Amino acid sequence: MFSLERIVAGYGETTVLWDVSLVVPPRSVVALLGPNGAGKTTLLRVASGLLKPTSGRVVVDGTELTGRRPFRFAGAGVCHVPEGRGIFPSLTVRENLLLQATGDPAEALDKAVGVFPVLGRRLLQLAGTMSGGEQQMLALARAYVTEARVILLDEVSMGLAPRVVDQIFDFLARLARDGTSLLLVEQYVSRALELANYVVVMNRGRLAFAGEPAEIDEEELFARYLGAHFSA
Ligand SMILES: Nc1ncnc2c1ncn2[C@@H]1O[C@H](COP(=O)(O)OP(=O)(O)OP(=O)(O)O)[C@@H](O)[C@H]1O
Ligand SMILES: [Mg+2]
Repeated sequence: MFSLERIVAGYGETTVLWDVSLVVPPRSVVALLGPNGAGKTTLLRVASGLLKPTSGRVVVDGTELTGRRPFRFAGAGVCHVPEGRGIFPSLTVRENLLLQATGDPAEALDKAVGVFPVLGRRLLQLAGTMSGGEQQMLALARAYVTEARVILLDEVSMGLAPRVVDQIFDFLARLARDGTSLLLVEQYVSRALELANYVVVMNRGRLAFAGEPAEIDEEELFARYLGAHFSA
């Protein structure tokens, strides 16, 4: 169980998150939705230890990690695929994968190539020279080889061709089937809701709704909280 409890956080003097609580139960997908500036990215930063909250707690499987360094979060099985992907552009695909792999290197490479075969043909290419879609696949494959228990995904389908978006959602569905928990920030709301067991909507740094996808009327969701940025 991964939980954020009463998180208050911000940048410098500015508070961005106000008393936000959220739970990702084992083997479940939580969709985190909200308009631009709602604080979704900031919440993921708190959730992976990149940003220390002003108050509140981050608890992973009963262990409090609040204020610990990001590698402690990684060690506890929390993996963050950030906006902008977080790969090393001047390293090769292979190096990127091996830096993140936790187990046997050869197995990790096999595993990564198994989910995204295109990476197998590009192992020696510098990551930064690949297409946007390929780079995003690398970012996801890196998360996969860490064998994380909770993966935080920040708009991983952003700006990609529909075919690549399909591939990415297939991969996320596979992760979910395998029992990895996902905290998913997505602009493709319908697709996120299809995958999700729970939905959390944020607005202006506060929780606006938390419940199950079946409780949500998508039209109302768009009208009340989401802007043009989101796609049905
Ligand atoms: N490094 C920063 N320094 C100061 N303010 C920041 C910083 N990063 C984000 N903010 C502010 O925090 C608020 C929440 O931003 P955040 O990026 O978390 O929103 P978001 O929900 O991810 O939005 P989007 O959908 O556009 O990605 C915004 O008002 C933003 O301007
Ligand atoms: Mg964001």
